[in-house]
Amino acid sequence: MSTDKRKTDLLKLNKMRETAKLGGGEKKIKTQHEKGKYLARERIFMLLDPGTFEETDAFVTHRTTDFGMSEQVFLGDGVITGSGKIDGRLVFVFSQDFTIFGGSLSGANAEKICKIMDMAEKMGAPVIGINDSGGARIQEGVVSLGGYADIFLRNVLLSGVVPQISAIMGPCAGGAVYSPAITDFIFMVKNISHMFVTGPNVVKTVTHEEVSFEDLGGAKTHSTKSGVTHFACDDEKQCLQYIRKLITYLPQNWKEKTPEKKCIDDPKRIVTELNNIIPEDNTRPYDMKKIINLAVDQEEKPTTEFDEEINKNKKDANEKTVKVQDEYFKKEYVSSFFETQELFAPNIITGFARLDGISIGVIANQPSKMAGVLDIDASVKGARFVRFCDAFNIPILVFVDVPGFMPGTFQEWRGIIKQGAKLLYAFAEATVPKMTVITRKAYGGAYDVMNSKHIRADYNIAWPGAEIAVMGSAGAAEIIFKKEINSAKDPKKAFDQKAEEYKEKFANPYEAAKFGYIDDIIEPSETRIKLVKALRMLQTKMQSNPKKRHGNIPL
Ligand code: HXC
Repeated sequence: MSTDKRKTDLLKLNKMRETAKLGGGEKKIKTQHEKGKYLARERIFMLLDPGTFEETDAFVTHRTTDFGMSEQVFLGDGVITGSGKIDGRLVFVFSQDFTIFGGSLSGANAEKICKIMDMAEKMGAPVIGINDSGGARIQEGVVSLGGYADIFLRNVLLSGVVPQISAIMGPCAGGAVYSPAITDFIFMVKNISHMFVTGPNVVKTVTHEEVSFEDLGGAKTHSTKSGVTHFACDDEKQCLQYIRKLITYLPQNWKEKTPEKKCIDDPKRIVTELNNIIPEDNTRPYDMKKIINLAVDQEEKPTTEFDEEINKNKKDANEKTVKVQDEYFKKEYVSSFFETQELFAPNIITGFARLDGISIGVIANQPSKMAGVLDIDASVKGARFVRFCDAFNIPILVFVDVPGFMPGTFQEWRGIIKQGAKLLYAFAEATVPKMTVITRKAYGGAYDVMNSKHIRADYNIAWPGAEIAVMGSAGAAEIIFKKEINSAKDPKKAFDQKAEEYKEKFANPYEAAKFGYIDDIIEPSETRIKLVKALRMLQTKMQSNPKKRHGNIPL
């Protein structure tokens, strides 16, 4: 080969690469930036460790000739795909490029995404999809629909094999929403992301409702009302940082465990504050998140971009400034608890944390929201989280303070029976290490459901003021001592007496401990120590369920 030929070949390659980087062109790039949105490629760079992105299929183009499409060919065809690293660990990523036909999904574009998903399966690494798309490429018709189905199929087959994460950073409408819906975690950005099966115009025609894009399918709606999204982020940067953070709690695939993080917190830390959190009056609320945050690992606060900026300036600053900034930069510690679906069904708390550096999933009743009662939304939220943890070898830690399941026609007519059963099913089938701390109430069926010993929890403990009973003492006395109370001279006094009697007998943890239903009753301040020890002991747990095709969770 002549030197000239080699030179021309290289020039062509570089030119092609430059063209591919321009996506739909300067004008479209400008429009995207003017909307306050980042480009598909910029998003990937913010998501991944610097210098780790390896692109694939940058030269793919569509094959359509109808509607003048042969004159509109762009390298990459509206989606950027490849692999890279987060915290040094391999991930696969695709990022829809709105500058090319509005990021719409063509046959070629779908093939690129499927290729990445197939690689993720082979390599056993998470897939992260950044969605910003007008949906099916209208010019390609059914080919595009087929492309979506190819992706949906892979989403289903990869479910429980590798973690799948979706970031919605623009429109995601019509059937396209079903790909993120099957993935494990969805991130949305306020005022930028929209997800709906049909947009406001169709809604108006069909149901005569007038609703804005944001109200119908914005981040706020889906994080509070529908529970579709797990995170509603303030901006794109925060969204991508949160994905990076989430990845630190997850293993690469179902066969692996999450790598342990070096724990800088003391595993033997006595948490005296925990002794004073439960109010004396057992009908008063308290914040369960305080308990979680105090018990789990405290970690060094991650540096933000803002910090990095100041650190950079610090180098150039004079000595005096450096002193001031050193003061300012005293190390800060924060709880490792990372909450998911914070705003949806807040009566149950779900999220990840670390105990002695080991990643765990935390599920807890929240007495400060609807007294921590289990309703439909809370049951479904909890069940899906438990199943995710179980699928990916993440031990489960449960804090219980639950008065029972929510009564009433609203709940019954919408199926609290089968919806509540989901949570029971999820806890019961889970074979990962399972630990439970009863902080106060564990009443009725909810006691059984909330990771009780009876459904194979490994380590169950209670605080000394715990009440483990069929129901509250007042309700119990009313039913079983009805005759005595009604026939008493002073029914009020008789009622109080009987309620107290019942409370003495059952509203304490010792009755359950007598039967071995809880393993220990501990001083609240010892909670962290006990949990760390138990979790270490449970690291070699081996348990499996009976062989079958698959179970039939009450959907
Ligand atoms: C082809 C599309 C497109 C699409 C947008 N574009 N959506 N091209 N197929 N689906 C093109 C536009 O023609 C335009 O090209 C460029 O992308 C940017 O679009 P704009 O409309 O200028 O942007 P904006 O004002 O921000 O509006 C974005 C939008 C709107 C809300 C997404 O484009 C829109 O409503 N698109 C159609 C959405 C839709 O109905 N899709 C099909 C849904 S059904 P030019 O060259 O003019 O800049 C579906 C079925 C999936 O997806 C089923 C799976 C089972």
